[in-house]
Formats: sequence, C-alpha cells, structure tokens
Amino acid sequence: INVLLICGGGGSEHDVSLRTADFIQRHLEAVDDISLARAEMDGNGRLTAPDGRERRLGQDRMLRDDNGAWEVHYVVPSIHGYPGETGDLQSQLELFGIPYYGCGPEASKLCFNKVTTKLWLSALGIDNSPYQFLCSNEPEEIAKATMALQQWGAVFVKASNQGSSVGCYKVTAKEELQRALARAFELSPYVLVEKCLKVRELEVAAYTYEGELIITPPGEVCAPSDTFYSYEEKYAEGSRAVTHVEAQGLSNAQLGWIREASRRAFVGLQLKDLSRIDFFLTDDGGLYLNEVNTFPGMTSISMFPKMLENAGHDFSRYLTSLIRAAVR
Ligand code: ADP
Ligand code: DAL
Ligand code: MG
Repeated sequence: INVLLICGGGGSEHDVSLRTADFIQRHLEAVDDISLARAEMDGNGRLTAPDGRERRLGQDRMLRDDNGAWEVHYVVPSIHGYPGETGDLQSQLELFGIPYYGCGPEASKLCFNKVTTKLWLSALGIDNSPYQFLCSNEPEEIAKATMALQQWGAVFVKASNQGSSVGCYKVTAKEELQRALARAFELSPYVLVEKCLKVRELEVAAYTYEGELIITPPGEVCAPSDTFYSYEEKYAEGSRAVTHVEAQGLSNAQLGWIREASRRAFVGLQLKDLSRIDFFLTDDGGLYLNEVNTFPGMTSISMFPKMLENAGHDFSRYLTSLIRAAVR
C-alpha cells in the first residue's frame, strides 16, 4: 500500500506538524505492506520531497516528480492548522477519491473554528465555557469585550482559527484588552472572549480501533501556576508543564460525564479515526468541553499517542488497520 505522508502546511503550527509527521513516519516505516513517501506542503499547497525536489499530486492519484510517477493509495495529512486540520486538503482528497487518515472536510472545518465548535457543542447539549463572540475590532464589539472583562474579572481572548495556543491571550486588565484583541484579529476574522475559569485541564483520546469507538479515561495537563498552557509550555525546551496519562481524583460521575460528552461530540460532529477532546474542570466541580482537536499533536510531549498506548493499543497497529480497511 502506497501511503503519502503530507506534513507542514501554511499555518502557525507548521513546525509542530513536522514533529507529528516524524512520529507517524516512525510508526509506519517498518510495516511490511506499506511503502511510505513524505512530502512537505507550503501555504500554497506546493509539495516538496525530503530531498527538496518538487512533487505534484494529480487527479489521477499519481504523485509525480522529475524521476517519475507513484500511485498514491492513502494519504496521512499530518498538518495542524491550514490547510490540513481546516479540512481544505481533505476536500481535495475527496475530489481525487483518495482515502485518508482522519476527519472529513466538514468536521475538520467545524472543529477547527472555535466559534462553530461552540455553536455545535451547545446544539448537542454539551456544556462549554461562557463567552462573547466578536466579529470585528470596531468600538461596539470592543465594548462587548470590555463588559465581559468587567463581569468576569479575567478573560481569554482567542483567535477563532488557531491551535497550539497561538493567538490566545489571558487578559486581566482593561489596558491589555485592546492589544490582545488587535493581535487576535490579525490572525482571524472572528474572536472569542471567554470567561477565564480556574481549572484543571483534562483530555481524552477518542479514536476508532478495529471498528470500535474507543474513549480513553482522561489524562491531565498541568500548566505552571503563573501561566496557562501556552505555545512555550507546550513545545519549548524547559517547559514546566507536567502531563499525567490518567488524571487522579475524579469521581465516577465526572468520569461518566466526560465519557458521555466525548462520545456525543465524536458521533454528533461526525468525527473519523481520531480526535483529542479537551475539557476544563473548574474548582467548584463544573465540567466544560473546551475543544475538539481533529488532528491532535503527536510530538514527544503530546497526549494523544500516550493515552492511546496507555489504553493498551499499539499506534502502528491502530494506524495500519485503518489504512488497510480504507484501501481494501
Ligand atoms: P488551542 O486551540 O490553541 O489549544 P485553547 O482553547 O485550548 O486553544 O486554549 C489554550 C490554553 O489556554 C488552554 O489549554 C488553557 O490553558 C488556556 N485556556 C483557554 N481558555 C481558557 C478558559 N476559558 N479558562 C481558563 N484557561 C483557558
Ligand atoms: N494543535 C495542537 C497540535 C494540539 O492540539 O495538539
Ligand atoms: Mg487546546
């Protein structure tokens, strides 16, 4: 089976996408019936082979470079953000009729946009954190944000279309608000102003293993107390964030709520193959679904592969069984 691993992309998470691709590559390389090609995509959809040579994927499902053509049977779109996690690449693969790993274009787009995610979660009856929605950086919209800050004391200003905490700012003082909004609006056309909750951050891996939907028990990420789970705390050398593959001290009722919300989100948003679903547990016991990641990170610190393996599943076996089922 010829598998094309596409990585990179044009968004702020380009480098993280390469690290995720390294993880996936390591787990597919030694599989007997799989032959792997890797290509890095830029923001214009151009593909480059690891040796720097340009490659093109055609409607006839052939991957071409100066050396010749190679038939693509399956694609792994290892891209966080545009154009992978946003669903654009998946739309093209649907047009070309090439099966691929992960969620389809519609689910990807819905979940990547933090505004549509919240609308769908509410429609599915799944609690999510209180927020205001801003569609421009004009005075009347800024007034909504100012009121939210007054009411809630501290807020998170979030660009609607980023991941890895890019475009996400904690604001506690009025003077910081305009700058945070301006930076978020530079990145996205819509901005969320969310109530800052005092929280534990819980995450589950939800994925299909040999035809069955698996929802792992929640793991936990603990950001240092003086900050939040920012880009630096996620990926930089010397990150002080600590992760636990299984969160401790949760009641059966809390575990049950998280499991049911995850199942409802996976089914209701029509996810496929994989996702990492993130929750907030507030100090007073409130549970909120924060976000659905249709293509979660798989770097050395990332939770998705750790939780999958903790559930007794081997990543190579999981992915190859999805590939074999899709190309059969
Ligand atoms: P991303 O898609 O970039 O991961 P998130 O919505 O997960 O965006 O926000 C990034 C981080 O910011 C979270 O992991 C958490 O540490 C912090 N955070 C976001 N929203 C809130 C909130 N409403 N209350 C408290 N912390 C938050
Ligand atoms: N967006 C990053 C990669 C994650 O959620 O894991
Ligand atoms: Mg997050």
